[in-house]
Amino acid sequence: MECLKGRVAIVTGAGSGMGEAIAKLYAEKHIKVVVADMNNDSINRVVADIEKNSSCVLGVKTDVSKQEDLKNLVDKTLEKFGTIDILINNAGIMDNFISVDDLDLNIWNKVMDINLKAPVLLSQLCINYWLKEKKPGVIINTASVGGMFGARGGVSYVCSKHGIIGLTKNIASVYRENNIRCVAVAPGGVNTNIGKTLTHPDQKGMYALSQYVAAGPTGESIDVANVTVFLASDEAKFVNGTVVTVDGGWTGA
Ligand SMILES: NC(=O)c1ccc[n+]([C@@H]2O[C@H](COP(=O)([O-])OP(=O)(O)OC[C@H]3O[C@@H](n4cnc5c(N)ncnc54)[C@H](O)[C@@H]3O)[C@@H](O)[C@H]2O)c1
Repeated sequence: MECLKGRVAIVTGAGSGMGEAIAKLYAEKHIKVVVADMNNDSINRVVADIEKNSSCVLGVKTDVSKQEDLKNLVDKTLEKFGTIDILINNAGIMDNFISVDDLDLNIWNKVMDINLKAPVLLSQLCINYWLKEKKPGVIINTASVGGMFGARGGVSYVCSKHGIIGLTKNIASVYRENNIRCVAVAPGGVNTNIGKTLTHPDQKGMYALSQYVAAGPTGESIDVANVTVFLASDEAKFVNGTVVTVDGGWTGA
């Protein structure tokens, strides 16, 4: 993808899993990468790995649930690289499959702030920059098959991921004529650290999953990262406002 060379991408949640794989693969493709994560040690590790082959990388400690951190992320990116071309809204957390009757509002708020509100606000900052500068831009949101079906997470996770698909379609339909595209990837089961956060899975949520859904194949982060390279490129210029499922056929079966 020659067109991607020299472009600037912000990747949130780039300290682990799919975000890390995207950041590293983008750097290999000569994209200038901003590694944004709330975990400083992870940022330093990923940046150090990328720096073995590229000097075009910047780490910015960012808690995406904090509005001031999002503003700082955009400011630091523009300061270092002078522009933004690609935004990957990837940072996300799960919710232990907690159903409505057991829902603690703190969990709902935390999941919504990270998985949905942050992508809205960071998209807003980038879109306002692109509109002001009359520049094209691409936003790729990491949704989930939990954003298309009901039993692949708790109520907070499922609602946040359905929401991010709505966000994707809304941005795509409003800004198409401004050359701003927005697409989502919907991974199925991917081998990352997020699985370790399922510490006390809610029995009702797990029962619903087992009753309706057979266990699917497990993919690796690079399987999703590969798809995002195409989606960010000019070759994908007619792909807009849609969701690309990356689940090894789980939801197709
Ligand atoms: N792994 C899967 O099976 C799977 C499936 C579908 C969708 N997803 C989605 O993929 C995305 C990436 O998840 P992953 O599986 O790579 O998980 P992961 O836990 O390996 O990585 C998530 C990263 O996000 C960071 N993060 C968490 N909260 C943050 C915050 N407030 N601010 C900034 N960074 C924060 C973490 O520090 C971590 O580095 C998430 O949106 C997740 O919902 C994962």
